[in-house]
Amino acid sequence: MIVLGIESSCDETGVAIYDGAEQKLLAHQLYSQIALHAQYGGVVPELASRDHIRKLPLLVNAAIEEAGINLQDLEGIAFTRGPGLIGALMVAATYAQGLGLALDIPILGVNHMEAHLMAVMLEEQKPEYPFVTLLVSGGHTQLVLVRDFGNYELLGESLDDAVGEAFDKTAKIMGLPYPGGPELAKLAEAGDPSRYHFPRPMLNRPGLEFSFSGIKTKALLTIEEATEADYPDIAAAFQEALVDTLIQKSLRALKRTGAKNLVVSGGVGANKHLRSELKRLSEEKGFQVYFPRSEFCTDNGAMVAYLGCERLSRGEQSESVKLLARWPIDQLTERASKE
Ligand code: KG4
Ligand code: ZN
Repeated sequence: MIVLGIESSCDETGVAIYDGAEQKLLAHQLYSQIALHAQYGGVVPELASRDHIRKLPLLVNAAIEEAGINLQDLEGIAFTRGPGLIGALMVAATYAQGLGLALDIPILGVNHMEAHLMAVMLEEQKPEYPFVTLLVSGGHTQLVLVRDFGNYELLGESLDDAVGEAFDKTAKIMGLPYPGGPELAKLAEAGDPSRYHFPRPMLNRPGLEFSFSGIKTKALLTIEEATEADYPDIAAAFQEALVDTLIQKSLRALKRTGAKNLVVSGGVGANKHLRSELKRLSEEKGFQVYFPRSEFCTDNGAMVAYLGCERLSRGEQSESVKLLARWPIDQLTERASKE
């Protein structure tokens, strides 16, 4: 099945085409709205929706050209149904509905976090089931046991802020441009992580929950007492504390489930320190670690096209377009059928 995938849940317009028979990505187009939102220091929902409308048809045309196919060759369309900004989600959903009707092909709304979780399947190095996924994005921090395709158990999640949010808010206090996560990571490369110390939240308690609001406050107080020359060292110590916390909890999840494979997905999965530390530890401790390439960790259409292809090929399709601002990954079918 040749499937068009569209992502528009936040500030990236992503369009991709995946060929299920060949198991191959035929096209991948991405337009980031970062420049648009940067002056406001965060995503402005109305501006995001309007910009998705402006860019989406152009990206679809570009993807069709990149794949070397005609629009009529498409056999299904997948779009992100939630979680996300409702107005932004609406753009891909209505576009998919219109194009689906015009081409007389099935459409399917998919879960954004499941798409992140499955993005690793676009890589040559794929994990075998079961595996534990560390899902780390701007809105979520979760550990999920993946027993099989579509069979997910939420092992633990953040009780307050997501880890990406902790990166972004601390970067903002340092005056770094939006989105702060990658900027803070860049600054940390030049810093000495041993000059400052940040707590590893929730590590002294059993369980797989996270909490990042306290460490963010500690960062604020530290930055207030420092000068700009100290920022790289603060960034390095802060990043190390976050990465260390994510890693310790992931190791705990592997131990508890008995799984030998760990997958990291979502925007924070692009963090170089997290990737290199996990690679080092996997050799030391004898587990396997898998990541999507960095451009498929952050929001993109490829993961939507892949997941859509898997589900459409199994006969699933959406009859109507009802969006979900919140859609927990362990309630895929219950919530989807009710709303
Ligand atoms: O998955 P994503 O693109 O969008 C959501 O679904 O939220 O994740 C975006 C988050 C932002 O908080 C961003 O700052 C963070 O991922 N991020 C990073 C890095 N690249 C993106 N955080 C730390 N280091 C990075 N290299
Ligand atoms: Zn995302």
